Amino acid sequence: MARINDHYLKLKAGYLFPEIARRVNAFAQAHPEAKLIKLGIGDVTEPLPAAVIEAMHKAIDEMAKRDTFRGYGPEQGHAFLREKIVGHDYHAHGCEIAADEVFVSDGSKCDTANILDVLGPGNVVAVVDPVYPVYVDTNVMAGHTGPANDRGEYTGLVYLPATAENGFSPELPSQKVDVIYLCYPNNPTGAVATKETLAKWVGYAKANDALILFDAAYEAFITDTVIPHSIYEIDGARDVAIEFRSFSKNAGFTGTRCAFTVVPRSVAGTDAQGNRVDVHRLWSRRQTTKFNGVSYVVQRGAEAVYSDAGQQQVRELVEFYMANAKIIRETLTSLGYEIYGGVNGPYIWLKTPGAMTSWAFFDKLLADAHVVGTPGSGFGAAGEGYFRISAFNSRANVQEAMLRIREKMGAERL
Ligand code: MLT
Repeated sequence: MARINDHYLKLKAGYLFPEIARRVNAFAQAHPEAKLIKLGIGDVTEPLPAAVIEAMHKAIDEMAKRDTFRGYGPEQGHAFLREKIVGHDYHAHGCEIAADEVFVSDGSKCDTANILDVLGPGNVVAVVDPVYPVYVDTNVMAGHTGPANDRGEYTGLVYLPATAENGFSPELPSQKVDVIYLCYPNNPTGAVATKETLAKWVGYAKANDALILFDAAYEAFITDTVIPHSIYEIDGARDVAIEFRSFSKNAGFTGTRCAFTVVPRSVAGTDAQGNRVDVHRLWSRRQTTKFNGVSYVVQRGAEAVYSDAGQQQVRELVEFYMANAKIIRETLTSLGYEIYGGVNGPYIWLKTPGAMTSWAFFDKLLADAHVVGTPGSGFGAAGEGYFRISAFNSRANVQEAMLRIREKMGAERL
């Protein structure tokens, strides 16, 4: 019999979102009359921007003719898209990133997981707690951790608690770590990092020869003008940080799939002999071996995000979801809930009332209001006693969900 990867056996039951889906399906089967509203997984609901649709139709027409048909593209992404990305997302913000440092991919989730292919065993890995579960689970799968304790924390990982007390901005590690995952605007807490905060992390990484894996999938939702959109806005970050970006949430590509990862040529690690090795070269080697690139049609769609019309339409989409976030924040605040986030990011992080656990709140919200959210404890031990509500849904559903919560779930009544 084939030998399996034992590290998978250390993983807790199911990945968070399928586990929620399983519980929701069971509820729906038992209560077929319930009209469920899903504010759980951060999945977009609004159609693709018109500029994207138009570009994709045009690209499909090209694929229909022998003269303009395309087969394999460059594994790293087409130059037309990589150039738009660096121009708009980096050069316009004073960040020095070259087009060949951008790798177009089918998602930030995949890339934050796949990056472990080029990092060896034995790294001390730090994650913020609560955390996007992919960073933790993929380290478990790769054998970088021991088993989980009863709080669900894996031995070998360094957890940096992000709590209401520290404003959901964790302290620097007290020990030397080699790899640090940061996500800003943060999933799940909605917290953002100022330039000073990011400079502190870059300083730590430089002083400790650490690598920062910076997930900026929600940067488009930043409304506060002083908050940086990219870690490369910080001096020296090009030497110590890899950045992950996505078209999923800003341009509605969750089902279309397009993202990119920036690996500056100046980022390095060491081999077993302690020699400096360029990570860009390894990532390029990995992508060209294991990935055949994002489809031409989708990359043309992503390119259209950077057209004048595309930029305007994406801004409108982001504003639409942030108006939902405002409705959620204001309703829950008026009902006596302690609320965080939802200002520079699409997630609202609420403290569960009294001593209610995250899953108890999940069950009550589902049973009483037929609304689905995400239990904070699913993001890590420090998320216990919190709950995440996503602003990604139609206006009508968000309004209806808030109406039901107002009727059935006022914090003072729980
Ligand atoms: C979330 O809800 O945390 C995200 O949708 C997950 C993802 O983007 O993979």
